[in-house]
Amino acid sequence: MISRLLRWLIPVLLLSVCISAQAARAFEDTMAQRARACTGCHGEQGRAGPDGYYPRLAGKPAAYLYQQLLSFRDGRRQYAPMAALLSNLDDNYLRAIADYFSALSVPYAAAKTAPPNATILGHGRKLAMEGNPAQRVPACTQCHGDKLTGVNPDIPGLLGLPPDYINAQLGNWRTGRRGTAAPDCMAAVAKRLTETDIHAVSHWLSSQPVPLHARAADQKPPPGPIALEVQCAAFTRVEASPVTLATAEPRGAYLARLGNCAHCHTARGGMPYAGGRAIDTPFGVVFSSNISPDPLHGIGTWSSEDFWRALHHGESKDGRLLYPAFPYTSFTHISRADSDALFAYLNTLPAQPRANQAHALRWPFSTQIALRVWRLLFFSAAPATAESGNLTPTGNQQFQRGEYLVQGLGHCMECHGARNGLGALSGSALGGVLSGDAWFAPSLHDTAQASVATWSVEDIARFLQTGGNEKAIAQGPMSDVIQHGTQFLTDADALAMALYLKSLPQTPPPVARGVPAGTNLSAGAKLYETHCADCHGLQGQGRAKAYPALAGNRAVLMAKSNNLIHTVLQGGFAATTQGNPRPFGMPPFMLQLNDRQIADVLTYVRNAWGNHAAAVSEFDINALRRSQTP
Ligand code: HEC
Ligand code: HEC
Ligand code: HEC
Ligand code: HEC
Ligand code: HEC
Repeated sequence: MISRLLRWLIPVLLLSVCISAQAARAFEDTMAQRARACTGCHGEQGRAGPDGYYPRLAGKPAAYLYQQLLSFRDGRRQYAPMAALLSNLDDNYLRAIADYFSALSVPYAAAKTAPPNATILGHGRKLAMEGNPAQRVPACTQCHGDKLTGVNPDIPGLLGLPPDYINAQLGNWRTGRRGTAAPDCMAAVAKRLTETDIHAVSHWLSSQPVPLHARAADQKPPPGPIALEVQCAAFTRVEASPVTLATAEPRGAYLARLGNCAHCHTARGGMPYAGGRAIDTPFGVVFSSNISPDPLHGIGTWSSEDFWRALHHGESKDGRLLYPAFPYTSFTHISRADSDALFAYLNTLPAQPRANQAHALRWPFSTQIALRVWRLLFFSAAPATAESGNLTPTGNQQFQRGEYLVQGLGHCMECHGARNGLGALSGSALGGVLSGDAWFAPSLHDTAQASVATWSVEDIARFLQTGGNEKAIAQGPMSDVIQHGTQFLTDADALAMALYLKSLPQTPPPVARGVPAGTNLSAGAKLYETHCADCHGLQGQGRAKAYPALAGNRAVLMAKSNNLIHTVLQGGFAATTQGNPRPFGMPPFMLQLNDRQIADVLTYVRNAWGNHAAAVSEFDINALRRSQTP
């Protein structure tokens, strides 16, 4: 098995060659254009990367590809760069991407590995064609088809894959790094193989020529007795889609979306509302609770009063004080009527029998006494106003509704407010660095950051409902907020929030300071031309509705460069929303550009075309890279 280091190094070296060779192309509003976030690694038209590490996508069975995309996004298959890239994409878009690659018919490259000795190849051939009854290993052909070119709709072919890739995949199944929907037959098969078997079968498979225009067969051969022992999942089932509003409690369902309850209360790839999502805090990790109506593990035995106490006072049914990773510092403003609607809605959902996970907090933060002190200092429950949840009684209904949604249910300030050393919102208008992955949530009070004071209410509403407008694109944690929450805002609520956000007091923006005159930016300029200009334009002008302009873009100019660095390292798509179901994507550069190169290209972008902002240092890149590379 190739070492971990090699796995990362080889691709970095080869990739730089392959990507810089891509010539500038005319823009087309197609799936091919959207797939450019993928083809940097997976090769033109998904025909496989040049080094054999990045697997082919073209022509593979569509349901298989779709299942893999779900698995990367939801954590059943581990590869961090893909997981980050797919994190904002919904099932429908993933299906469209899978269909796109599946329909491509491009020839395979000739197999080019030097085969090991004949004994090993003979052993590999026997396993693939006949299996090994002594170890209860079925023949690979039983499922992968007589010709090993796969079976529609969900079994991939095994020919044309490099030996290292097959090796790594079988190893991943044995160690749990790769999995698929249960029952996972390949996990069973891989665990019956020895290291020698894996070595032999992967070398034999990769030494076989691929028939020209190989396609998956339409039927599996009749199963033998051993293959019958190993059950595979059928991928025809529809994935659990996000909670829909087609429910007996539409009001509660709407409120749950705006409060983003499902996002925090669902583990990655887990059942909705069963809890278990890890939330990073400066004091350790807090796990969200099961709030499905399960009587043992969830809120099945709670009364609406108990539920209200949790939201309003931050206390569990048994009196335990709750950690403010649960944003009750904002939810305390939720009205009793809305709390009851939320509770009624949660009770219509299926019970999830998943036990709560213990928090992993450092002493003394792990104690209830510390929490009691914290609450004395930083939390007081809002006065209970049964109907409106009024904060500032201005007499303007629309303004009050906006304030309620921003400060209460929408808990915008939980991220956008600065926090003090004890993790409490300090009330200052500075913006905050989020704990964990260090995204920066810019201040809503500063026009050089995230203030929308100068935007029209329509622009603000469009940003919240679709994930972007001509002025900004939501990224990282903000795209989660929009994808799971604000995209569902009614027009009236979106306008109310916009009105309130525009009224927030403003701090004077700082004076923008660029790099000193005469600084040599040519290295960054060259990198930009090679890697970025194709999408963002030679003048940083971008392309309407596809690629954001970088000239004059305040997200590019903001003093704190954390978000820029995240974007270049991880790439990403804007969130899929009803208003923008197939966003364009940016490829990740974490493997392709080193810290120095990313610093150079970002410093250039921040000081070209009339932009002026401080240089980005190699050190800045390194710090964020370490927070995310697996
Ligand atoms: C940074 C490089 C990189 C990028 C960008 C990337 N991938 Fe991948 N992809 C990989 C690697 C490496 C693997 C194999 C991972 C493993 O070891 O399981 C993989 C595996 C896959 C697989 C599974 C293939 C199989 O036969 O099982 C699919 C499907 C896939 N990628 C689709 C995509 C799509 C779609 C995109 C764009 C949205 C994309 N990838 C972007 C590197 C990348
Ligand atoms: C009982 C059916 C079954 C048998 C037998 C079987 N496979 Fe598989 N195999 C599958 C299924 C189903 C998948 C797709 C799994 C997924 O969704 O990730 C798969 C996927 C794979 C993959 C991943 C391909 C890729 O592009 O990432 C490899 C490698 C593989 N099998 C190797 C083997 C080998 C080698 C054998 C014989 C020793 C074998 N399989 C026998 C059902 C089977
Ligand atoms: C930012 C993440 C986050 C969001 C958003 C969130 N929660 Fe939570 N919630 C948590 C965490 C973490 C806990 C566990 C706190 C603890 O155990 O101290 C929790 C606990 C709870 C509890 C107490 C459960 C118990 O067993 O004591 C209830 C009830 C609850 N949340 C309801 C909701 C509702 C309703 C919403 C949406 C309006 C929501 N949460 C949104 C993170 C979140
Ligand atoms: C989980 C943390 C989090 C929450 C909750 C959150 N935001 Fe954000 N927000 C961010 C981050 C991080 C950014 C910076 C990335 C970006 O520009 O999208 C951001 C950016 C923004 C921007 C600036 C967009 C731009 O590029 O100019 C606006 C406006 C905004 N948020 C509004 C809101 C509103 C309104 C709410 C409440 C409904 C909210 N946010 C809730 C994290 C959050
Ligand atoms: C294949 C097209 C493509 C290429 C090549 C590309 N980008 Fe992007 N870029 C995008 C898309 C699409 C987005 C918006 C997606 C998102 O929000 O994550 C984006 C977003 C950005 C943003 C964030 C802008 C904002 O408003 O928040 C920055 C900064 C950026 N790109 C810089 C770069 C740099 C630097 C390079 C070259 C190293 C580059 N991009 C290469 C497509 C591309």
